[in-house]
Amino acid sequence: MNKNIVILAGSPRKVSSTDRLVAAFTEGAKGAGHNVTTFRVADMKIGGCLGCNHCFQETGICVQKDDMQTILDALRKADTLILASPIYYWGVTSQLKCVIDRTYALLKEGSSVKFAALLMACCDDTEAAGDPPIAMFRQICAYMKWEEVGIIVAPRLNNPKDINDRPELDQAKQLGMKI
Ligand SMILES: Cc1cc2nc3c(=O)[nH]c(=O)nc-3n(C[C@H](O)[C@H](O)[C@H](O)COP(=O)(O)O)c2cc1C
Repeated sequence: MNKNIVILAGSPRKVSSTDRLVAAFTEGAKGAGHNVTTFRVADMKIGGCLGCNHCFQETGICVQKDDMQTILDALRKADTLILASPIYYWGVTSQLKCVIDRTYALLKEGSSVKFAALLMACCDDTEAAGDPPIAMFRQICAYMKWEEVGIIVAPRLNNPKDINDRPELDQAKQLGMKI
């Protein structure tokens, strides 16, 4: 069955290894007939969650009228969510975390998302740099009842060209094909 996939891509870099993983995933997913909508969240104007709980009092309505509305509308139609980010201090970028927090606005109405995957780039020598953001991702999946369908961590990426010919690009494409 064709999936409706939303990708939240968190790198602020214009030339980004994370975006290369996203592009490879998208190639695989579109080739398999899935719909893919990608948001480069660092290019959008999105404020941090205010914790005002207005979205619980008036279901799904956030008091902040910014670019998050577009993402919330896309997420309401999505069955699959891909979080993609460079690792910044053993976490996702602040821009992506900001968007994750703002999905709080969907909690009361319930999420249509059923499947989730994580794509990450980092400069550390080992994939272990991904352990803290992977732990966060898994906690969110458990809480939201999303099925984890893939995690890819690409280490040793200092410059965007370092990802050329790396196996993680093919892994991301394969994940997109089989998702
Ligand atoms: C503010 C900042 C924090 C970073 N923190 C980490 C880190 O904790 N672990 C790591 O392995 N790489 C870290 N990096 C390196 C990036 O994750 C790495 O360069 C990544 O490949 C960048 O991906 P991008 O090209 O998609 O932006 C950091 C980079 C920046 C700018």
